Amino acid sequence: MIVDKLGRRFKNLRVSLTSACNYACTYCVPDGKRLMPAREELGADELLTLVRYLKDAAGIDKVRVTGGEPLITPKFDDFLLGLGALDLKDISLTTNAQKLSEKLDVISAAGLKRLNISLDTLNPLKFRQIARGGDLETVLEGIELALSRGIKLKINMVPMRTVNRDDVLPLLRFCLERGIELRFIELMRMGHLNQGQGFAQDFLSMQSLLDLIGAEYEYERTDAPFDSTAVRFKIPGQGTFGIIANESEPFCSACTRLRLSSDGYLYGCLSSPRRESIRDLLTLPRHLVLPQLQARLLSALQVKQQTFQGETTVMKFIGG
Ligand code: 5AD
Repeated sequence: MIVDKLGRRFKNLRVSLTSACNYACTYCVPDGKRLMPAREELGADELLTLVRYLKDAAGIDKVRVTGGEPLITPKFDDFLLGLGALDLKDISLTTNAQKLSEKLDVISAAGLKRLNISLDTLNPLKFRQIARGGDLETVLEGIELALSRGIKLKINMVPMRTVNRDDVLPLLRFCLERGIELRFIELMRMGHLNQGQGFAQDFLSMQSLLDLIGAEYEYERTDAPFDSTAVRFKIPGQGTFGIIANESEPFCSACTRLRLSSDGYLYGCLSSPRRESIRDLLTLPRHLVLPQLQARLLSALQVKQQTFQGETTVMKFIGG
């Protein structure tokens, strides 16, 4: 097994199926720029082969499918059904739910029982200002349909002081009423937010969030699994919520995540631009793959930082 000096190893893999996205969220995409998908993205079979290799070489047992937006790429169905057949302990998916209704059959056929949906507001006008693509009504329809099919949902919200602070309580209420766990993701200094005033202006800390929530709800902190990224809270009799407190309570020392981008690079850490291409492994004979991959996993693991330092890489290229 490959372990680093803090005892960290890779257990969870995030696969970005495509860096293309039908949104252009303000915190991800700089104003006036539509980022292009990575060139030379791998196909479903190629990505599945790399996932299989990573499962064997690193002992990966959990995979999360991300993007970009994974539901918009034509390879989604083949990839997800192939992934479902890989005998993993857990598969999950992060989506903006714009195409969720039409993909629920495939999602269920692949054996997924839970999904994370990114949604930053319930206000249609503000939705358009933040996402700069898609339509709120469609997302809400997707959510109701997924719930009616027994799929467990979490909603990811990025709370921003000058943008959607007023949406925190309405979204929390919406989630509590439906048995959805709301997860607030503290704004991260990724991509264009790593420079300029945007981050300082809009960062809303875990404590400020709790103050907001505490004005309306009694909450208590509960235990979370060791390598969970979220700090979890219970609102007795009503439900739970979580905060991914990247700045307020960094979780780097327990991070077991590894990322594979749609163009075949491994990223060991969100706070480092260093990456390792592994697409050449697709042309190697099988018996040569494992030792090669182990060497590259070791260097990917060494890239892991002790704390998140900010990073210019754009989230949509490597998945959240
Ligand atoms: N800070 C916090 N969260 C972000 N996401 C994308 N960019 C950022 C950022 N700079 C979130 C998306 C999605 C998840 C995968 O990552 O909203 O829910």
